[in-house]
Amino acid sequence: MATDWQTCWHICGRMSTNSGIASGPRSQLDRYATSPPGGPRWNPGSKQRLTPYDCHKFDGDSVLDEVGRTVCEARCLPRKELFESWEVARRVLRKSRGGPVLDVACGHGLVAWFVALIDRRTPFAVCVDPKFPANAERLAAVLSKRWPDIGARVRYDRVGVNEVEILESSRVVAVHACGDLTDQVLERSMAARARVAVLPCCHDHRELDDGGMSGWMPRAVAIDAVRAGRLRAVGYRVWTSTIPVHLTPHNRLLVGVPPGA
Ligand SMILES: C[S@@+](CC[C@H](N)C(=O)[O-])C[C@H]1O[C@@H](n2cnc3c(N)ncnc32)[C@H](O)[C@@H]1O
Repeated sequence: MATDWQTCWHICGRMSTNSGIASGPRSQLDRYATSPPGGPRWNPGSKQRLTPYDCHKFDGDSVLDEVGRTVCEARCLPRKELFESWEVARRVLRKSRGGPVLDVACGHGLVAWFVALIDRRTPFAVCVDPKFPANAERLAAVLSKRWPDIGARVRYDRVGVNEVEILESSRVVAVHACGDLTDQVLERSMAARARVAVLPCCHDHRELDDGGMSGWMPRAVAIDAVRAGRLRAVGYRVWTSTIPVHLTPHNRLLVGVPPGA
């Protein structure tokens, strides 16, 4: 039987008719979605794996292009994960620079890689997951070959969120940490007074707190609003935004920074 997060990984790629979904901004991604007249549309939100045939899409000199060309070689990364990780990393970096990054429930750990690549004031990055996907090692190998200096600073810890050390200087990121795993990430980050960013999913868990607000707004939105409120209640500054919905219907990003950070 599939565990919750396996189911979640599966459904996170699908579009939803949930009216709580913000459509999200248009972005740099539009450049990648173009195709030659009459040619098939290349969808950045596809779960198809990137392969060397996709390399031509990444013909620019941005970090995204460079990482895109590199991961195409590995033939193992679903397209949407590349773009999703990029969109999250750059929004996180707008609000918090410097310090270690902890990519919790990281899957392939690409958010950690993007943060470390873009923000050279990142002393180290930790990818945290009790069960890495089969190809995480392969992906790490191609990235480390291309960026050995960064590779030397990225660590993979096969543990759960409650076993990892969170420093006050850490930037904790969790993309699609299913259900109450997002809340565990928030609680542990707040306890450490660390900066945190979550892109929650799997709001169907019964025990998630909607603050009694589901009569006014979709339950998933209410749950995330309560999460933002919890951060505010302990003095965090909070920013909310959305990543493009064609990458994931679970596209609400919550960023929190404690006072003085
Ligand atoms: C839906 S996947 C998200 C993966 C990745 N962040 C992404 O967006 O592609 C959820 C991940 O949470 C991990 N996970 C499950 N329980 C966890 C725990 N207690 N602590 C940290 N990660 C956990 C799973 O192994 C899985 O890789």
